[in-house]
Amino acid sequence: MRLILGIETSCDETAAALVDEDLRIVSSVVESSIDLHRSFGGVVPELAGRAHVATLGPVVERALTGAGLEVRNPQVAAVAVTSGPGLVGSLLVGLSAAKAYSLVWGVPLVAVNHLEGHLFAPLLERPDLAWPLLTLLVSGGHSIIVLQSGPGDFRVLGETIDDAAGEAYDKVARYLGLGYPGGPEIDRLAASGDAHALTLPVSMTGEGYDFSFSGLKSAVVRAADAHREVGLADVAASFQGALVEQLVRKLRAAVEAHPVAGVALAGGVAANSALRARVAGLAEEFAIPAYLPSLAMCTDNAAMIAAAGWHHLAREGGSDLSISADPNWALA
Ligand code: KG4
Ligand code: ZN
Repeated sequence: MRLILGIETSCDETAAALVDEDLRIVSSVVESSIDLHRSFGGVVPELAGRAHVATLGPVVERALTGAGLEVRNPQVAAVAVTSGPGLVGSLLVGLSAAKAYSLVWGVPLVAVNHLEGHLFAPLLERPDLAWPLLTLLVSGGHSIIVLQSGPGDFRVLGETIDDAAGEAYDKVARYLGLGYPGGPEIDRLAASGDAHALTLPVSMTGEGYDFSFSGLKSAVVRAADAHREVGLADVAASFQGALVEQLVRKLRAAVEAHPVAGVALAGGVAANSALRARVAGLAEEFAIPAYLPSLAMCTDNAAMIAAAGWHHLAREGGSDLSISADPNWALA
């Protein structure tokens, strides 16, 4: 059985995984440094980088051992690593380690775009995935609609022109005095709130597939200040309602314009219960499957990087050892 080692250190998760050629996950380890960042209300790059240095070695060892491989001579087919986009200091930790493993073990290094990794996540749980596919990739750093004709063959239809969806969740949560990350907490509160309590704009409802969440964020703050009588759950539900409405309207427009065999969600915000329910409903309406990854596959992990790594290894072979991290590497 040929295995590829995937390494992910683009933000606050230190992850390693072994995935076989049929994209079966043989082992996957994820350690988060989120507890270090909570009191700062967001990820502190310096702390994240230091945490990766301390954690990556043991995480890789656990992943190798978990797959029944020898740590010193694991005989993997290649090492796939996220080289962008992300926090540059964090990326460099993973990339440097991956280069060292590649040199010592004498196997190819495969540089992977983190966002492309997210696109492979639904496939890891659903090998029967139908193509072409529309994927809504929503995380703390990105909000993108991608049309995929097959694994690794994609076209970006639209993206956010300002904040990412998760970023909007986190900023509104911060304003409401909720903890970091704010998405899960707003999601939980919204379940018992009235989404019509505040009247908020559903931005970017015109042509095209681009998103904008910055205006909504300011509108929530203004409306909540003006209506102090409206409770926290109702504010959370109103904000979430408007944000999810924008996401789903754009996804609906994309499904109407492109005959696809399925829709998928990816990224941390894909864990959102309202978004999952709406996307499931949309898919049902168009009589196509909705691929809603498990929570572990929505958030950052190395199995998705390993999967994308197999694809690039087969297509282009390995990357040059002189490759550097690209914190702004666009999905194109
Ligand atoms: O993909 P991810 O783990 O990290 C990257 O940004 O790459 O996404 C994290 C983001 C955070 O902004 C967090 O607030 C958001 O995903 N998030 C959620 C939920 N769970 C996580 N947003 C809304 N509802 C959730 N249930
Ligand atoms: Zn991510």
